[in-house]
Amino acid sequence: MSDNLLVLEGVHTHIAAYHILHGVDLTVPRGQLTMLLGRNGAGKTTTLRTIMGLWQASEGRVRFGENDITAWRTPDIAGLGIAYVPENMGIFSDLSVKENMLLAARGAKNAERMDAGRLEWIFGLFPAVKTFWNHPAGKLSGGQKQMLAVARAIVEPRQLLIVDEPSKGLAPAIINNMIDAFSELKRSGVTILLVEQNIAFAQRLGDTVAVMDNGRVMHSGTMADFAADEALQQSLLGLAL
Ligand SMILES: Nc1ncnc2c1ncn2[C@@H]1O[C@H](COP(=O)(O)OP(=O)(O)O)[C@@H](O)[C@H]1O
Ligand SMILES: [Mg+2]
Repeated sequence: MSDNLLVLEGVHTHIAAYHILHGVDLTVPRGQLTMLLGRNGAGKTTTLRTIMGLWQASEGRVRFGENDITAWRTPDIAGLGIAYVPENMGIFSDLSVKENMLLAARGAKNAERMDAGRLEWIFGLFPAVKTFWNHPAGKLSGGQKQMLAVARAIVEPRQLLIVDEPSKGLAPAIINNMIDAFSELKRSGVTILLVEQNIAFAQRLGDTVAVMDNGRVMHSGTMADFAADEALQQSLLGLAL
């Protein structure tokens, strides 16, 4: 069994007439948290959407475990145990927090059938999910919505959790809660791929890092090595950690 749960090799993606990804090579080691960094427009979201089959790679390969998923349909990719939290979070505002959770729990027809132990564990990670259980999700704050979005993604055990900018627009105190929750998720053994703009967030959570620019991964390695290399940070991100 390979140490890498997810591997992208030379992935190109076109969106309509635009050539967005220019040969992305990315490896996500099993059981680790991989940070995908890069300036705005570098191609991070497009990479995540290509992994999920929401855009089709025009060249290259996407491998998940033993499966070549390059040409798979999104529901089949998700069915392998990959959860994706997009930037807009995909929450149903008119439904209650409970109903949002229930929709994500494919195996459960009603809240009573959701795995009670797992639900308690999720409540521990994201107390707001419990507090606002019967409230419309649209009434939650930005941070609470983000937490609900991640809670939904882990309502059932997953092999890989992919989250696009979980700290975006959040206040520092909320970001700290989010960091704690992801640390606990890491300890639970799930493999995680996170896109981040918040450098402190990235540094505190990342085991490995891949930095994109112009539709390619320009650097990959350990987070510790990247955090120690200010010149590299400057050249790839335009700022230092
Ligand atoms: N739907 C789209 N149509 C055309 N261009 C797009 C679309 N989505 C993204 N792009 C372009 O692709 C490039 C990469 O975008 P994106 O993957 O969203 O970057 P990031 O997430 O790193 O900020 C950008 O230049 C962006 O303008
Ligand atoms: Mg993006």
